[in-house]
Amino acid sequence: MDQQLINLVNKLQDVFASIGVSNNIDLPQITVIGSQSSGKSSVLENIVGRDFLPRGTGIVTRRPLVLQLINRPATSKPNGNAEKPEEAMSKVQLNENNPDEWGEFLHLPGQKFHDFHAIRDEIVRDTEKMTGKNAGISPNPINLRIFSPNVLTLTLVDLPGLTKVPVGDQPRDIEKQIRDMLLRFISKPNAIILAVTAANTDLANSDGLKMAREVDPEGTRTIGVLTKVDLMDQGTDVVDILAGRVIPLRLGYVPVVNRGQRDIDQSKSISSALENERKFFENHPSYAGKAQYCGTPWLARKLNIILMHHIRNTLPDIKARISQQLAKYQTELASLGGALGETNPGSLVLSTITEFCAEFRSSIDGNTNDLSLNE
Ligand code: GDP
Ligand code: NA
Ligand code: MG
Repeated sequence: MDQQLINLVNKLQDVFASIGVSNNIDLPQITVIGSQSSGKSSVLENIVGRDFLPRGTGIVTRRPLVLQLINRPATSKPNGNAEKPEEAMSKVQLNENNPDEWGEFLHLPGQKFHDFHAIRDEIVRDTEKMTGKNAGISPNPINLRIFSPNVLTLTLVDLPGLTKVPVGDQPRDIEKQIRDMLLRFISKPNAIILAVTAANTDLANSDGLKMAREVDPEGTRTIGVLTKVDLMDQGTDVVDILAGRVIPLRLGYVPVVNRGQRDIDQSKSISSALENERKFFENHPSYAGKAQYCGTPWLARKLNIILMHHIRNTLPDIKARISQQLAKYQTELASLGGALGETNPGSLVLSTITEFCAEFRSSIDGNTNDLSLNE
């Protein structure tokens, strides 16, 4: 996640907190949908930059995982490994056992998980507790919070994949049950949909894209993610899809290469996976010239830009609400014979927001076109 954005949002949220206005920037939830084993959990994990989600062939994600990233300033001594802005969200510099970074489950209050592999084990354990070991599913979400100085306060949702044929303990109407579950998450107007399709399958059959189109027909909050580009047949590529010549998407597509099952079995680290992804696109004849628009870092950048737009669009409304409150208090105060000076906290917030609006505008203006950039 872009460090500049993290700083701006945190500063703004601090000012709100200082005058007791809560959660005003309702940041979008990032959701993933697509067929089973298309690579949804892998994509989310790469975005967060931590190994903590159960992944694998078959139905692994069997309950929604609502993952809240919560920015919390470091309290321990900095180690001098300052984050490069583009790396924070797709982190290359892993910092295992960082005392400032931990996970906490809603169902295990007060228990801090500093080991991200233990987080994965707990997700598996609680999934099995709720749904059994035999492929059962449940709409009952697991709530996990990750506290870290390196994240933007933001919610991501990992979801089970769309399937058609019941297996194991799954009910006969499994397809409908999963659809209904996914619809509940992606219908929210502030959900950003990552519609994940494996590049070695036919885009026209993409369940994720089909469903995204149902809830977002204009395509204003759907990003196409093409996984498994490394598994495509020799001589085939996704260039036509990226160019919008197959199924055009307003916000475009991002091709990625996640870790394969073998990499998972061998516990390949995220940093080497990202390095591998970078090399793949830079060295592939079809993508070499456009490598900067490929891979996880570009997906993270697109998300940043969408978030910035969202924040910019929300600010005027917040500003109007605070102005209203302020006017109301001033009237009340005047009727009591007092008056608020220029330095009261309310007007401080207003001037801060105005300042941010200007800052955002200038930081976004140079980036706006990136959103539709596919080639
Ligand atoms: P989900 O079911 O959609 O959440 O998919 P997972 O993230 O669990 O991945 C399913 C399987 O596909 C795992 O074995 C992953 O290793 C593999 N996989 C996912 N993305 C890629 C990719 O880009 N390339 C390769 N080679 N394998 C991938
Ligand atoms: Na899977
Ligand atoms: Mg999954």
